Amino acid sequence: MELLEAIQSRRSVKKFDKSHELTDDEVRQLIRCASLAPTSFNMQNWQFVAVRDAGQKTALCKAAWNQEQVCDAALVLVLAGDLKAHEDSSRTLRDAPDELTEMFDGMIKQFYGGNESLALQEACRSVGFAGQNVMLAARDMDYDTCAMIGFDPKAVAEILELPEHLPPLLMITVGRAAEPARKRWGLLDYEEVLSLDKYGERSFTGPIQG
Ligand SMILES: Cc1cc2nc3c(=O)[nH]c(=O)nc-3n(C[C@H](O)[C@H](O)[C@H](O)COP(=O)(O)O)c2cc1C
Repeated sequence: MELLEAIQSRRSVKKFDKSHELTDDEVRQLIRCASLAPTSFNMQNWQFVAVRDAGQKTALCKAAWNQEQVCDAALVLVLAGDLKAHEDSSRTLRDAPDELTEMFDGMIKQFYGGNESLALQEACRSVGFAGQNVMLAARDMDYDTCAMIGFDPKAVAEILELPEHLPPLLMITVGRAAEPARKRWGLLDYEEVLSLDKYGERSFTGPIQG
């Protein structure tokens, strides 16, 4: 599938084929694509929990206000941010050129050390990019997805036994669609979202096509 087609055809699907299962190789492929997303200083400040077990999915579904896609999808991927990734950069710098290792290590600690809010912001950025990669890769694999934040993060962390520094920031259901998504609606126009050269210069106008 072409990239533009994957972007255009990615929709939030709510009805999944309950009988379909994802293979280990397919899970690996999705996580490989997630891991190829860019992160600040290559911190890879994330952890992924791939849930296929029916009991775990049922528990997550409850924690997600009973949104049925969580029970029905073949895979529920929980993307957690790693708020301590900056404390130990030796993992992500292990293959870096020697001259960069010390410099990056110092910069990472200086930038994020003692700044919990920035570490959380960074984790949200990283998980967002990773999540989008997962959703587009899923389209390429003929699957559909639904990104979700409608869940109780405390309950999800408990079910998955996530430690405090790995808050669940995003959930993505992945599977074979049983019903297409609703018709797309409400895409804002160019002049509502795009400024040219400085904020408020609305030179581009007209509807953005879905
Ligand atoms: C961060 C985020 C959280 C979302 N949470 C939910 C959710 O909890 N439940 C749900 O059904 N859809 C959820 N969605 C899907 C949005 O409603 C959907 O992306 C939006 O309406 C646009 O539709 P589309 O994804 O089909 O283009 C979420 C999407 C994002 C990006």
